Amino acid sequence: MHYLITGGAGFIGSHLTERLLEKGHQISILDNLTTGQAKQLKEKNVQLIVGCVTDRELVSRLVTTADYLIHLACVVGVRQAMRKGIETLKISYLGTENLLEAATLQQKEIFIASSSAIYGKIKRSSVAEEDDSLLGASDKASWLYSVGKLVEDHLSLAYFRERGTKIKIGRFFNVIGSYQTDSYGMVVPNFIRQALTGSALTVYEDGSQTRTFGYIEDILDGVELIIAEGALGQVYNLGGFEEISILELAKKIISLSSSSSPIEFIPYRAAFGSNFEETRKRVPNINRLRQLGYSPRYSLDAALREIIAHHKAVIS
Ligand SMILES: NC(=O)c1ccc[n+]([C@@H]2O[C@H](COP(=O)([O-])OP(=O)(O)OC[C@H]3O[C@@H](n4cnc5c(N)ncnc54)[C@H](O)[C@@H]3O)[C@@H](O)[C@H]2O)c1
Repeated sequence: MHYLITGGAGFIGSHLTERLLEKGHQISILDNLTTGQAKQLKEKNVQLIVGCVTDRELVSRLVTTADYLIHLACVVGVRQAMRKGIETLKISYLGTENLLEAATLQQKEIFIASSSAIYGKIKRSSVAEEDDSLLGASDKASWLYSVGKLVEDHLSLAYFRERGTKIKIGRFFNVIGSYQTDSYGMVVPNFIRQALTGSALTVYEDGSQTRTFGYIEDILDGVELIIAEGALGQVYNLGGFEEISILELAKKIISLSSSSSPIEFIPYRAAFGSNFEETRKRVPNINRLRQLGYSPRYSLDAALREIIAHHKAVIS
């Protein structure tokens, strides 16, 4: 099978590329290399096209040669989206539209990467696919990332309903693994770098906000399952199963990496300015995906041990 992966040079895309290559598939990647790194793809048998998903003619041409489309490219993360609001919304809308239009005309199936960010500040013990989105006011730029991903979701589902486009949506919750950069605020690579270099681990506020991290190998099992078994026009939450507070996460990383780093508490305002509103809790209900046979294998400890070992190997 020939896959076209947009954003394939990024964290999730590089791992997915490796896995699909191991299974004998052919991979083409469209990536503008803003956060993705070509070096992760070096020596791999992939076709890398450096370009932007907003280039309609290029997207259409690349879709022609592919059997299956995986759309990951966007401005990723709250911190980046806050700084690049126009680009975030433009890429989410125009990029996704280009892929959907080409997929429709050429009758190709497409996997769309959604995000738990679309649930916003909803407070529930866990969130299921049919739960509401609860976003803050538009003068808070920290909701830009959520809005961009919500646009991708709505556009994809509208194409499914109105044009019969063959779409499947995987809604990722905080994914962790090697290759994840710490350069735009991702908490696990940040904490690991700080722990391994003896710097203070920077925890926002009192660290009582919680997240549920999913290890990349489990997440890729989920992506493959959705592609193989998922229903067209369906959304699947895709994440881990152990909720943890950010303070407990910092302590765990210090312990697992045998570090003596201290923990420093920083107010959101100091890190992000007044334009920021935080999500207190994020736990996925993954029952829909479990019904397809999804069964994550990595505990948080096991995942962190793997990632810490990778970071140590890179540093040494
Ligand atoms: N990592 C997570 O925890 C997480 C959680 C929820 C959703 N997601 C979603 O998964 C997808 C992949 O995220 P990731 O963590 O691998 O991020 P990433 O930043 O590592 O990867 C994104 C890739 O897209 C590329 N890109 C950005 N804009 C582009 C454009 N206009 N044209 C072409 N390429 C472009 C970047 O260079 C990068 O290689 C994204 O859609 C993201 O919203 C990720």
